[in-house]
Amino acid sequence: MTRLTTGGSAINLEPGETVLQALERAGLDPPSSCRAGQCQTCLHRAIEGTLPPASQEGLTPGQKATGYFLACVCVPTSDLVIMRPGDVGREIDAEVRAIEKLAPDIVRLRLEADGFDYRPGQFLELIARDDLRRHYSLASHPDEDDFLELHIRLHDNGRMSRLLRNEIIAGARLRIAGPSGACIYEGVDPDQPMALIGAGTGLAPLYGVLREALGCGHRGPIRLYHGARNTSGLYLGDALQSLAGRQAHFDYKPVVLDPSAPLGGDVSALALATVTGFAETAFFLCGGENLVNRLRREIFLRGASLNQIRADVFLPGR
Ligand code: FES
Repeated sequence: MTRLTTGGSAINLEPGETVLQALERAGLDPPSSCRAGQCQTCLHRAIEGTLPPASQEGLTPGQKATGYFLACVCVPTSDLVIMRPGDVGREIDAEVRAIEKLAPDIVRLRLEADGFDYRPGQFLELIARDDLRRHYSLASHPDEDDFLELHIRLHDNGRMSRLLRNEIIAGARLRIAGPSGACIYEGVDPDQPMALIGAGTGLAPLYGVLREALGCGHRGPIRLYHGARNTSGLYLGDALQSLAGRQAHFDYKPVVLDPSAPLGGDVSALALATVTGFAETAFFLCGGENLVNRLRREIFLRGASLNQIRADVFLPGR
């Protein structure tokens, strides 16, 4: 008999039963719509067990590699431990190794944590207190860094921002959970053009993906578009300019919102105007919901398939 475990519940599956049907039978009220593998409303994630290939049809390579599947067409043949996409998994301890300003309103937080496996571009949940949890993307690389690195924008009245400004120092103990997200360098052809487009601290996961691509020997052209409100928000600008000077196939395109500034403009407009070959390019989008959704639509309308577009939406969190 095949067993499904989710949260605190274990469910024995009936022969031929889908994960969606089993969750409903257990009264867990999972989301669903088409019930035919088309709409992705029933998306879940397996953290243990082997998924039948049919349950991942139509998902991006990044989603497949990180265990996402469609519950309505998943008839498991082995035991599975699953989570809903919004769940972040088990919590572990982390210690602050360093915290420093990258810009007037952006800090770099480096954490040490044992046993946290992730892919560059994924995100984690930072838990300062039981009622204070926020999601942040990882800018570090698991093979190159012995710490986890987060880039965090500080808001004037945010609770987490206040803690980061005033209380959290090197040596502080926090908790983290995750990783989550499928905006990773997976399924990209080494000769394929890549366009990484983000705003604000949306640079963090793109930076991780860029390092992963270069580390894997990616040969196709890579363009990184980073938008910020002002020049101080282009916080890794020097390092990225220097990298572009050393890597002939990498191009860094910084933009600031102030139209009168030398780099003034709109990051999405610049990307849409200068990317060529939409049908061939692998896109990575990270930033606020409006930016990511607008770009996804425009890129799709210009000829890219949805499977070419990896996206990570930052929801407001202070
Ligand atoms: S409910 Fe639509 S894909 Fe599963």
